Amino acid sequence: MRQKLPDFPWDALAPYAAVARKHQQGAIDLSVGTPVDPTPQFIQEAFKAAANSPGYPVTMGTPDLRNAMTQWAVKTLGITGDFAVLPLIGSKEFVAWLPTFLEAQSVLYPEVAYPTYLVGALLGESNPTAVNFDASDWPPADLAWINSPSNPTGRVNSESEFRAAISWARATDGVLVSDECYLEFGDSATPTSMLKYSDGNNKNLLAVYSLSKRSSMAGYRAAFVVGDPELIANILEVRKHAGMIVPLPVQHAMIAALSDDKHVAEQRARYNARRALLAPALISAGFTIENSEAGLYIWATRSEDSWESVAWLAEIGIIATPGHFYGENGSSHIRVALTATDLQISEAATRILAKVSMKK
Ligand SMILES: Cc1ncc(COP(=O)(O)O)c(C=O)c1O
Repeated sequence: MRQKLPDFPWDALAPYAAVARKHQQGAIDLSVGTPVDPTPQFIQEAFKAAANSPGYPVTMGTPDLRNAMTQWAVKTLGITGDFAVLPLIGSKEFVAWLPTFLEAQSVLYPEVAYPTYLVGALLGESNPTAVNFDASDWPPADLAWINSPSNPTGRVNSESEFRAAISWARATDGVLVSDECYLEFGDSATPTSMLKYSDGNNKNLLAVYSLSKRSSMAGYRAAFVVGDPELIANILEVRKHAGMIVPLPVQHAMIAALSDDKHVAEQRARYNARRALLAPALISAGFTIENSEAGLYIWATRSEDSWESVAWLAEIGIIATPGHFYGENGSSHIRVALTATDLQISEAATRILAKVSMKK
């Protein structure tokens, strides 16, 4: 199986990270996008209170968790019609294994995308095709991924784009999965869910959510899928055999996290303030910011090969991700993650501005 998969892209960044780490004041890592803000205390408490957990947890989740996911979906997504919910150990695991679970022979995924959509297609021995946003152009396939807000670009799908993708699913009988793990992190645009536009018919439609960024719980591995009851029942049957069960203390932490919006609003404000600080510094260094209207990244280009931009930032101790990691169409962009402390983001902006003024 190893031979079927690409080399792990982050290894290629190591030499640039090594340059950045030589900086006198240390490196500021804006590459991987792993949350640094603490998991809210009340979520930690819910996890700890469930630490005595001798028995196996149930794959479909406890009744309280199922209720919390359902309530959240009704309130946050605006979903109507029949739908089901299922907890997941992380959405990465779901993205990587869904084509296998559904025995999808063909998989469509966005041209500039989170790499795991392709990895999942390769693991499932499916035929992968990269497609643009306009679903009216898509070929038939067993499964298609959309991602809004997007990693890496921060782009938000419009209602008409969602509706075109839903029409594709209805016309071709393909399964449409919308990865919406940054849904609650709008900035200049307010993201909506694909499920809002199903008009009460959720057949062949799924949307996936993650608490990793929403609630700074990446270490817990907590996510869930919402949508077509028949598809979710099939996935549940496979999972009952295959495992990937969400640990019971994590299920309790998920209930606490999903029952509260205040911490999400605070986290959104944190990421947006960091974007507001860093984007002008990048612009003064000659970068153009594209999309970046939601999510946790800045997607920027200086119309040069992305490794050149990465090298320029590494010299001042900043580690960014080359757009190459997200497909050929990203090869002149960089992705800058806002997952560093306020102090580090402010220091990164200062270093960029200092380097720009040295050149003048
Ligand atoms: C678009 C997208 N989907 C899924 C994931 C996976 O998140 P997790 O496995 O932490 O739920 C990520 C993580 O960066 C992502 O950017």
